[in-house]
Amino acid sequence: ETDTDMYYTVVAQEGETQFLPGKKTKTWGYNANYLGKSIVFKNGKHIHVTLKNELPELTTFHWHGLNVPGPITDGGCHAPVYPGESSEIEFTCDQPAATLWLHAHPCPSTAEHVWKGLATGVIVKDDVEAKLPLPRNYGVDDIPVILQDRNFHENNQLDYLADYDPDGVQGPTALINGTVNPYFDVTTQQVRLRLLDGANRREWRLHFSDDLEFTQVASDGGILPSPVHFTHLMLTCAERAEIIVDFGKYKPGDEVTLYTDDVAIMTFKIHEFAHHDLKLPEHLVDIPDPEITPDTPVHQVAMSGMDEMVEMNGKKFDMQRIDDRQKLGNVEVWSIINTNDKDSGMLHPYHMHGTQFRVISRNGHAPYPNEMGLKDTVSVNPGEVVKLKVWFTHLGVFMNHCHIIEHEDGGMMAQFEVF
Ligand code: C2O
Ligand code: CU
Ligand code: CU
Repeated sequence: ETDTDMYYTVVAQEGETQFLPGKKTKTWGYNANYLGKSIVFKNGKHIHVTLKNELPELTTFHWHGLNVPGPITDGGCHAPVYPGESSEIEFTCDQPAATLWLHAHPCPSTAEHVWKGLATGVIVKDDVEAKLPLPRNYGVDDIPVILQDRNFHENNQLDYLADYDPDGVQGPTALINGTVNPYFDVTTQQVRLRLLDGANRREWRLHFSDDLEFTQVASDGGILPSPVHFTHLMLTCAERAEIIVDFGKYKPGDEVTLYTDDVAIMTFKIHEFAHHDLKLPEHLVDIPDPEITPDTPVHQVAMSGMDEMVEMNGKKFDMQRIDDRQKLGNVEVWSIINTNDKDSGMLHPYHMHGTQFRVISRNGHAPYPNEMGLKDTVSVNPGEVVKLKVWFTHLGVFMNHCHIIEHEDGGMMAQFEVF
C-alpha cells in the first residue's frame, strides 16, 4: 500500500426502507438499504474496489462516466458478479473532477436493479476544481441530489412488475435521495447541488420558486469551460448537472422550493448565514476539444422505435456481436439520430460507455450552452440529429445505448470495440 492507493468495498445488498408512513418496503442499495453514500475518488490515485454481491441474483457494478480500462472494470453486462460472490477491480483515476455514478447493469435486468435502488453518486476530485471558488463542504454546502420517481401501492409498497412499462417505469411521487418531500437546511449563502437524473424514464424540468436564478458549473464529465446562468434546467436520464444556488436575497425562516414542472419536490429552509458573494471567473477550466476535419470518419447511430420495438441501427442488442469499431486515440464523429415522430415520439437519452465526448451540433445548430463541456449522455429529441466528437483512452469492448433503462434492456443498445 502506498499513498497513491485507495481501497473501497461496495456491497450490493437487500434492505427495507420506509419511504412513507405505513410499512417498510423491500429495496436494494450499495452498503445501504437504498441507494448509498457518494463514493469519492481522487484524480491520479490508484483505486482498488472489492465488489460484493449479497443479492439473491447476479448483478454488475457499472461506473457510469468513469474512464476505466475494458469491459470488466466498466461493469456492464460483461462483468457479472454472482450471488454470494465478489470480485476485485483496480484502475488509475484519470479524469477531471466530476459527478459520476455507480449503477447496476445486468442486461436485461438493469432497469429493475436500478429501480430497486442500486445507484449512487461517484465524485471525482482534482487539484483544478479545488482552486475554483466553489462550495465543496460535503453535506453542508455541497450535496448530491439524486432525482427519481416512484409509484407507491397499498401500504406504501413498491412493485416493479406491477408498474412495468417497456417505455420506462414512472411514478407520480418524486424521491429525492430516496426521500419523499425532503428539506435541506441552508446555512451558507451558496449551495452546490450535484443533480443526477437517476430515474428510469423521467425527464426533470427544474426551477425554483421566485424563478430564482442559478448557475450551472459542471455537466456529466466535469466543470464547464464557462458558467451558465439559468432559471430552468432540463435533465434527461443519467445526465448530471452541478449547479450553484445563491440564497443571498432570503432571510432566516424563508423557504425556497425546487419544482419539476409545477410539482414541488424539495424545500430549502433558510437559516442565518454570513453574506459573501461568489466571484466566479468567466472562464472556469480548459477542456479538450480535439480537431476534426471533413475527412474525419462518421459513425451513424439510429435510435428507433418505442416500447418493445426499440432498436439501434435496426437491430436489437446481441452480446455476441460487435457493432462498431474505433481506433484508440482517434477522434471521430458519431452522428446520433432519433427516428421517432416529431410530434408523437419519445426523446432518447444517448449514452456511451468508455468516453467523455463533446457535442458538436443539434440539427446543425450549436449545442445548448450547458453542453459545451464533457458529456457521456445527451438527449436526442424525436426527429433530431446530434453530432458528437468521440475519442477513447482505453482498449476494449464498451456499450452505447438509450438511457431510458427499459429501452436499454429492450435492446436499444449496441457494442463497439476500441482497438
Ligand atoms: Cu448508466 Cu450503460 O449506463
Ligand atoms: Cu454508462
Ligand atoms: Cu429510448
